Amino acid sequence: MSALVENAVGFSGQFLSIDYEQRKNYHIFMKIEELKSVLITGGYGFIGSNFIRLLREKNPSVKIYNFDKLTYAANIENLKDFENDSNYTFIRGDIKDGSMLDIIFPKVELVVHFAAETHVDRSIHNPGEFVLTDVYGTFSLLEKMKQHKNVKLFIHISTDEVYGSIKKGSFTEDSPMNPSSPYSASKTGADRLAYSYFKTYELPIIIVRPSNNYGPYQHVEKFIPLFITNVIEERSLPLYGTGENIRDWLFVEDNCKAIMTVIEKGKTGEAYNIGASQEKKNIEVVDMILNYFNKSRDILDFVDDRRAHDFRYSLNWDKIGKLGWKPEVNFDEGLKRTIEWYINNRNWWEKVKKGEFSNFYQKNYKKELQ
Ligand code: NAD
Ligand code: TYD
Repeated sequence: MSALVENAVGFSGQFLSIDYEQRKNYHIFMKIEELKSVLITGGYGFIGSNFIRLLREKNPSVKIYNFDKLTYAANIENLKDFENDSNYTFIRGDIKDGSMLDIIFPKVELVVHFAAETHVDRSIHNPGEFVLTDVYGTFSLLEKMKQHKNVKLFIHISTDEVYGSIKKGSFTEDSPMNPSSPYSASKTGADRLAYSYFKTYELPIIIVRPSNNYGPYQHVEKFIPLFITNVIEERSLPLYGTGENIRDWLFVEDNCKAIMTVIEKGKTGEAYNIGASQEKKNIEVVDMILNYFNKSRDILDFVDDRRAHDFRYSLNWDKIGKLGWKPEVNFDEGLKRTIEWYINNRNWWEKVKKGEFSNFYQKNYKKELQ
């Protein structure tokens, strides 16, 4: 057994020796700069790859294990510059496959679980994949937490979508969950399963619920990258319904910093909302994108609304605010940075749009990508 694993076992013993009531609010003292080894699931996706990049910046020597199935949503180019990083290891595997996880779990002190099927529209076409990956996949990881007591902390990445839609006001962490799509319902299952493993098996688990992320490396199926790249290619913009729906836009780097704050200062058994207080109607976002490119609304294509389309997401994020985190990038600045990234990385997204995505587009929008 390596020194690292022995130390970790010692730590876990310390956690298990405190009584249950205390454990509910236990602060696992981990400093990002001092971390030795981390398992990231879904590290070739949008947020996972941004998280790995930021983690490397803050800690040049931490051993990073990126466990990813490489689904359509992954892109190995997201971490191309990590190929020569001797402290970075990629393991291609499915989180549902416990035997693969048994190889990695003994090596790490922290797990940050991003891997999931994530697109609401795809969940409407193919809900089974979401149940399997998001619920069963999370179950499979949590089972490994039970077996491998060396892991000091498990961060479960949930979503604001578990609460469902809210007309007025904002959800707190104690608000009831009321998901509307197979995606958000599967994420709700995973969120509560993670909590049950804290409560039932007394495992060191923290849940975060971020709002809509945007920024570099986001798959073109999502609203902001789809609309930016369609404008660049002079295609139409498929806006659902009337464009009145509201989302709270969180720049991906701010989200990654929030997750790091929770790793350092969060308490086990707790959930933390991560919001940005940058709520915008979809049509307002569209106007900002059009404005950047000096285009008119003529290219808007008002398509049939998404089924069960949540009207508004809104989070009260006072709780993580009390840990000392706040978003640093406002929407004007973040959107500009995002647009510029897509302008400068045309190769990255053109390949994605030409592949499987064009079939999905046809199925979802009932028209060719035009
Ligand atoms: P993404 O779709 O860009 O990436 C998902 C990654 O998970 C991909 O690399 C994919 O290959 C991997 N993956 C999927 N199934 C897997 C499996 N069975 N085994 C191993 N790897 C698998 O997702 P994202 O937008 O980066 O989201 C990451 C996490 O954050 C998800 O849990 C999502 O629910 C949550 N979240 C996302 C947002 C957002 O706005 N993007 C907001 C709140 C929460
Ligand atoms: P999306 O990026 O899919 O995230 P969410 O999980 O919050 O639904 O969509 C963001 C908003 O943009 C949502 O209200 C749906 C809308 N939207 C469109 O109007 N057209 C589109 O083609 C897409 C993908 C999204």
